[in-house]
Amino acid sequence: MQIFIDSADAKELKTLAETGLVDGVTTNPSLVAKAGGDFFDTLHQICTAVPGPVSAEVVAQDYETMLAEGRKLRGVAANIVVKVPLTQEGLRACKTLEAEGHPCNVTLCFSSTQALLAAKANATFISPFLGRLDDNGQDGMGLIREIRAIYDNYDFQTQILAASIRGVGHVRDAAIAGADCATIPPAVFKALYKHILTDAGLEAFLKDWKATGQSIL
Ligand code: G3P
Repeated sequence: MQIFIDSADAKELKTLAETGLVDGVTTNPSLVAKAGGDFFDTLHQICTAVPGPVSAEVVAQDYETMLAEGRKLRGVAANIVVKVPLTQEGLRACKTLEAEGHPCNVTLCFSSTQALLAAKANATFISPFLGRLDDNGQDGMGLIREIRAIYDNYDFQTQILAASIRGVGHVRDAAIAGADCATIPPAVFKALYKHILTDAGLEAFLKDWKATGQSIL
């Protein structure tokens, strides 16, 4: 499963990319507002730090303006993916942009029938929002399973990008459910490394090694 970071903080993304484990980035208007700074300058910095797909979202709601925004965003860097909302106009823009060679990530997906339409619009990525469904008493992971089954039934190539991830359990369950990618907040990414038994085991190994009085270098 590819690991994307859900953030528009270019400085933090640069540090996380140094792990060698970051396959891409997703941003949205709220994350851009939170990070502050000039949108295009930020996108340029992120695309330089992370060579994989970097999603940048249009804010227009009509087809023609979405196309213009999408094409402009794609001019920032070759690894930009145009993020469009799951609306009638958004899917129409997705189909046109994909036909022009501009990869799209269809965002704000909350049902498997929406995901079916996104695949028919030739989206490169579909972003089902797990956490927001769970927050509303619905089954976010069930949605991933439904989309996986539908895409596999018809051999759709659209990649399932599990989004709105709230914790390590979401990452695990999305991987088990067959999501192609997960976009993860920085704090959850750092938590993926952690296990109390890893820390305890390392402490014991180092204590025992110290008692030998030897050194490797
Ligand atoms: O970037 C889209 C998605 O991951 C947003 O997550 O936490 O705002 O529901 P969240």
